[in-house]
Formats: sequence, C-alpha cells, structure tokens
Amino acid sequence: MKINQPVTDVEYVLTEKDSIVSKTDLKGIITYINDDFLRISGFEKEELLGASHNIVRHPDMPVEAFADLWVALKANRPWRGFVKNRCKNGNYYWVEAHVTPIYEDGQCIGYMSVRGKPSRANVEAHERVYRLFREGQAVGLRIVDGKAVKSKPLDKLNLMKNTSVKFRVVTVLAALTLLLVVLGGIGLYGMSKSAESLREVYEQRTIPIAQISNIQQLLLTNRLRITNTNLRSYLAKISKQFQKED
Ligand SMILES: Cc1cc2nc3c(=O)[nH]c(=O)nc-3n(C[C@H](O)[C@H](O)[C@H](O)COP(=O)(O)O)c2cc1C
Repeated sequence: MKINQPVTDVEYVLTEKDSIVSKTDLKGIITYINDDFLRISGFEKEELLGASHNIVRHPDMPVEAFADLWVALKANRPWRGFVKNRCKNGNYYWVEAHVTPIYEDGQCIGYMSVRGKPSRANVEAHERVYRLFREGQAVGLRIVDGKAVKSKPLDKLNLMKNTSVKFRVVTVLAALTLLLVVLGGIGLYGMSKSAESLREVYEQRTIPIAQISNIQQLLLTNRLRITNTNLRSYLAKISKQFQKED
C-alpha cells in the first residue's frame, strides 16, 4: 500500500465539464492520460506514463476499495466507485470513476478509467464510510462493486462470490467430471467385489457339492460290488449243494 505524502485539506472540486481519463496495462501501470488528468493532478506527463496508478493514491482511501476494484477487473467486470485522489502538491479531488477492461482481439489488454464530478451527497457518504474502513470500525461492512454493503453471514463461505461466470462454469464442470469419475470408480469396485463373492460361492459351495455327488457315486458302486460278490458266493454255494445231491 502506497502512502503518498504530504496532504493538505484543500479540495479541487471538479466541474461538470471535467473528465479525467487514464488507461493502464493489466498491472495498473499508466499507459495514457488526458489533459484534464494532467491539469487537475498537477503531475507532468513524463511522471505519470509508465508509473503505477497508485501515484495519485490519497492516504484516506481504504485498501478495501482498491481490493474491490481489482476483484471486479480480474473477473472482467466493470467497476464504478468513488475515489479521493491526491494532487502532486498534496491537495485532493473526489471523482466518480467508471473503470472497464479494454479488449483487443477478444483478449483483455488493459483497463480504462473515465472520471467525472460526483454529487456532494456521495462525496460526504464516502468520506464517512471510508473513514470507518480506515479506522477498523466498518464491522459487518464490505465494499462490493464500489458500494459499502452489509456482510451476509454466509458470505465468507461463498468462495465463488468474486469469480467470473466462465470460472464458475469451468469449476462446476470439473466438479461434475470428478464426481462421475468417483462414481465410476465406486461402480467398478462394486463389480469386482461381487465377482469375487461369486467366485467364493463357486469355490465354497459348488465344488464341494460336486465332490459329495462323486462320493455318493463311489459308495453306490461299492455297494453294487459287494452285492455282486455276495450273490456270486451264494450261487456258488447252491451249485455245490446241487452237485452233492447228484
Ligand atoms: C484503470 C485504473 C485506474 C485507476 N485509477 C486510480 C486512481 O485514480 N486513484 C488511485 O488511487 N488508484 C487508482 N487505481 C488503482 C491503483 O492501480 C492501485 O490499486 C491503488 O492506487 C492502490 O495502490 P496500492 O495498493 O499500491 O496502495 C486505478 C487502477 C486502474 C486499473
């Protein structure tokens, strides 16, 4: 956080005609400024071009305001907000800023800010609310898209709140794909488990049943053999008796 000093309490109040324009690269390095920017800020063109835009930062601006600005820009959303800037001589001026991404061939190549005169009511309201943030008194307040709003209890849990629609769609698709892979894995595991159980049933029940029927066959064969042997010896006995009687 850059703290530019010194500061005075002298304000330059913008006129309806004033329009302060600047452009930056993706990191907030100034690449263009218009004449109103030079005239009102008091900086030289050479001092501004190639410098970080925090060169005009006023120490009264809370970090939360610029954090909110960058969250919006990184998500390719425009940002509208109220900014107190410091002139080179320490004086200050309030602006209502409209910051938007600049696209070339479908790609964001930088950002542009167009600033005009804010209403007094907005200046006073933002003086008050920014002081609360600076002094750590903004309990339950957040800056969202340039406005101070009450934090909702579940806001901290909503991890996607500051992300682009593209990011959200990609994340949801990735989560669904992961879910499908996990469910597929569980299905395959279940199938291999049931195949294993079937093999166990086959090994523990079907094979013994086959063995039992084999034993039963052997017993039957044995019984038949015994019966056969008994029958033969009986017949032999009878034939001997017949021979004796003759
Ligand atoms: C297009 C554009 C315009 C900006 N205009 C201002 C501005 O007028 N005043 C300002 O203090 N910061 C402005 N910023 C934000 C600065 O880049 C920077 O984030 C801010 O001054 C805080 O800097 P720091 O965190 O180094 O203190 C602008 C950024 C962009 C991308």
